[in-house]
Amino acid sequence: MNDAKPSPVAGPASTQSGVLAGVSAMSNSSGVRRAIGTTIGQYHGRTCARGEPVIEFNAVDKAFGPNVIYRGMNLKVRLGETLTIIGGSGQGKSVCLKLMIGLLHAEGGQVCYYGEDVGRMNAEQLRELRMRVSMVFQGGALFDSMTIARNVGYALREHTDMGDAEINQRAAESLTLVGLGPDEYPEIMEQMPAVLSVGQRKRVALARSIAVRPEVILYDEPTTGLDPSNCNRIARMIRKLQRELGVTSIVVTHDMTTAWYVSDRVALLHNKQFPFVDDVPTFRAIDDPIVRDFIEGRTS
Ligand SMILES: Nc1ncnc2c1ncn2[C@@H]1O[C@H](COP(=O)(O)OP(=O)(O)O)[C@@H](O)[C@H]1O
Ligand SMILES: [Mg+2]
Repeated sequence: MNDAKPSPVAGPASTQSGVLAGVSAMSNSSGVRRAIGTTIGQYHGRTCARGEPVIEFNAVDKAFGPNVIYRGMNLKVRLGETLTIIGGSGQGKSVCLKLMIGLLHAEGGQVCYYGEDVGRMNAEQLRELRMRVSMVFQGGALFDSMTIARNVGYALREHTDMGDAEINQRAAESLTLVGLGPDEYPEIMEQMPAVLSVGQRKRVALARSIAVRPEVILYDEPTTGLDPSNCNRIARMIRKLQRELGVTSIVVTHDMTTAWYVSDRVALLHNKQFPFVDDVPTFRAIDDPIVRDFIEGRTS
């Protein structure tokens, strides 16, 4: 029920912290991070240690006309964790992600990244924010007239001065991370998205997000519309990216199997706030009927 205890990131990820530290140090020095200036835990002279809040919602109010979505909402996302947001349809889960990257603005309170108010960022700061905090949109939204390689390398081509060869190499690497690498799929770089299955499209969309080597990945309903085996595959991928790239992930889902598998912590959106935020074992043991009804599927 509380979000205040200063414990380190809970759950399986913390057992990997040694490996993770090594790998993120490695990925920090990679060409992509250099090209876009992203270093995990550092932002314009500010630092954030693993387990400390990197994104904070402080008393956030958000409404669309008379439709109040958030009232006095608080939530902290800790560096290195996977936080899953669950809650009924239409309650504001996607809005929460959009507030994080300044696609929507709060009328009251603050949404902060490294303590910096996202609502006050200018266009250039927002551009940088969206490279560091990368959203995988519901549905994927690939460019159908571009090859898969160009789709994956899109942000690098638009926002960095990396050359074609380097971009293609990053695209191939990113595709490999989602299990669609050219070693296994020799044609993939030149193919068009139309040849892909629904599950593969989601993975390419994910590869596109990780091509910029973000610090934080926001997943909006990553498994919706997938069969169980593809759901599992995406869920495993989310954990793998956390482990291998050291990314912080926020996952919006109403699929509890995915939630339990990927999360370090779970936050339940209810009544325009997040009254229940806890690590997985603690959350699963909450006996409040609001939580029980949700996780046992009596509401959605
Ligand atoms: N840009 C917008 N303008 C007006 N209303 C919106 C906008 N975006 C979302 N909403 C409304 O906010 C509520 C929460 O939406 P959303 O965050 O998409 O729900 P969900 O929890 O299903 O992701 C819904 O009632 C939706 O209609
Ligand atoms: Mg949504």
